[in-house]
Amino acid sequence: MLLSVQAYHTTMKNQDFSVVVQEKNMKIIVINGQNHKGSTWNIGNQLVGKISGNKEIKEYFLPKDLNHFCMGCFACLEKREKCPFWPEKEKIQNDMKQADLLIFISPNYCMMPSAPMKAFLDLFFTNWMSHKPLKEMFSKKAIVISSTAGAGAKKTTKLIANNLTNWGIPDVTEYGIAVNAMNWEMVPDRIKRKIDKATGRMAAKLSRLQKVKVGIKIRLLFWFYGGMQKADWSASKAEKNYWLDNGWLDGKKPWKQ
Ligand SMILES: Cc1cc2nc3c(=O)[nH]c(=O)nc-3n(C[C@H](O)[C@H](O)[C@H](O)COP(=O)(O)O)c2cc1C
Repeated sequence: MLLSVQAYHTTMKNQDFSVVVQEKNMKIIVINGQNHKGSTWNIGNQLVGKISGNKEIKEYFLPKDLNHFCMGCFACLEKREKCPFWPEKEKIQNDMKQADLLIFISPNYCMMPSAPMKAFLDLFFTNWMSHKPLKEMFSKKAIVISSTAGAGAKKTTKLIANNLTNWGIPDVTEYGIAVNAMNWEMVPDRIKRKIDKATGRMAAKLSRLQKVKVGIKIRLLFWFYGGMQKADWSASKAEKNYWLDNGWLDGKKPWKQ
């Protein structure tokens, strides 16, 4: 697992063998699809606060921290580093690779994720299993959170979650809620109580740092996209070479490292 842990110290004193085990840090990365701290951010923040144990949290806000749109040049399929925005993307990608838990937050805007969140997903489309998936993603958990005034939060989470599944993340949880409000202060108490319960339930589940199981959906998608590469249906030769170099077209699996 990608836990940055100084797990273990062993010392020997006069034939006495003592073991000091330090608690693992859970690395959490939060990608906010908005720059402001409104209802959606508050729900995510509540969730993170309730996860027990040692935590290392990194938070990005969009568009502040990645203020670009994909230009459609396809250079990233050749080599990730060829993306004109790679210097800013690299740091975020490294943080995502090292995280145990990825949290994606976006308000519902017109029955969709916010435009900055959509731009973010476009900028990381290289990570789709149909292109060059990152092996690290196959051991992650992700939570997608959205709020809406009336309708559309679940539509929003679904669109984001679909991307993350196609990145190979096996455990994606969605939480969308109608808050009847334009900002956190306006959210009625009865809805805040509902949110409090839901974030408590999710946090309790997340606090147990268990190994993520790769289910049938991810296995089938991986098999399907591998078949595409074998049949040379991919967008570029570089993609097939990437799959070959990883041994994925010869039976190796990214979740068995
Ligand atoms: C551009 C824009 C589009 C929106 N579209 C919808 C919508 O389609 N349906 C809806 O019920 N609320 C819509 N809303 C309201 C927000 O989804 C809602 O207030 C949300 O809780 C805001 O979250 P925030 O406080 O994190 O920004 C929209 C708000 C904005 C600013």
